[in-house]
Amino acid sequence: MSERAIELCGVALRGPILNGSGTFDAIAARRAFGDALIERFPFDAFVSKTITLEPRQGNPPPRLWETPGGLINSIGLPNKGLDGFLESDLPELARLPVPLIVSVMGFSRDELAILVAAAGQRDEVAMLELNVSCPNVETGLVMGADPGETALAVERVRTETDKPVIVKLTPNATDPAAVAVAAQEAGANAVSLVNTLKGMALHPTTREPWLGGRTGGVSGPAIRAIALEQVAAVASRVEIPVIGMGGIATGRHAADFLTAGASAVAVGTESFRDPAAGRRVAAELAGLSLSGERAAPASTPA
Ligand SMILES: Cc1cc2nc3c(=O)[nH]c(=O)nc-3n(C[C@H](O)[C@H](O)[C@H](O)COP(=O)(O)O)c2cc1C
Repeated sequence: MSERAIELCGVALRGPILNGSGTFDAIAARRAFGDALIERFPFDAFVSKTITLEPRQGNPPPRLWETPGGLINSIGLPNKGLDGFLESDLPELARLPVPLIVSVMGFSRDELAILVAAAGQRDEVAMLELNVSCPNVETGLVMGADPGETALAVERVRTETDKPVIVKLTPNATDPAAVAVAAQEAGANAVSLVNTLKGMALHPTTREPWLGGRTGGVSGPAIRAIALEQVAAVASRVEIPVIGMGGIATGRHAADFLTAGASAVAVGTESFRDPAAGRRVAAELAGLSLSGERAAPASTPA
């Protein structure tokens, strides 16, 4: 094991760099890069794109808007649904050389429970991530924006699996740390943050919303300072591990999140610009001590 190896919720990882869900299509990358992807896999654990119970088409196009320092996406969670994922994606993702985390989203607590039970019982799956950035159709509340809703969701799924459950927090909450505490008390094994911040862009001539979904989620360097503050606030309130993300593009950024209290970090939007960003961030991080200083060279040149 390398000295960068960590243990996350009892699962051994060769390093602390994950991908942000939905920002790296490992199946398409395998097709494009072949075995080189497996030999030089950019991440130390792989988080799947969020899956839902039923297949989804996603939002109408356009789905992306480039904004200064980031992206606004309104992808709308297109996916094959649980059965399609288990049949066709899971066997391919299981061939990756790192532990697999399956991200799930339900429009009710019962839907979440079905997803967690079905994915959690597969040996190929190391952990589950609950994407709670969606409205509960029963209450109309965004699950992850409300500590009580989050606690009920985590309690509901907790009895469905013995595998570690990570709750992915939304930054679009009044007090993300209160949501994190509620998740911990309800039995979550870790929290990850941040998901995207709500944003919108207008068409330059029609003045209508540019994105097919009208609003979208802002990610990338533009949100890094906000994410760093939220990670620090959450890490100071919970005992469980925190996975930090939001605009990480260099080893220095990763070091900042680790110093703020994260146990691991994820690279998201940067992978669109540089598919090998995860490896680069890991290598840059290895050259830094956690205080942010360059590691001392073995001998000082004259
Ligand atoms: C195109 C795109 C798709 C995303 N899809 C998902 C998703 O399916 N599930 C999820 O939990 N987060 C999703 N996210 C959010 C990212 O995982 C991450 O939380 C967010 O982008 C912040 O990190 P970043 O600034 O490094 O991208 C998506 C982000 C982008 C840009």
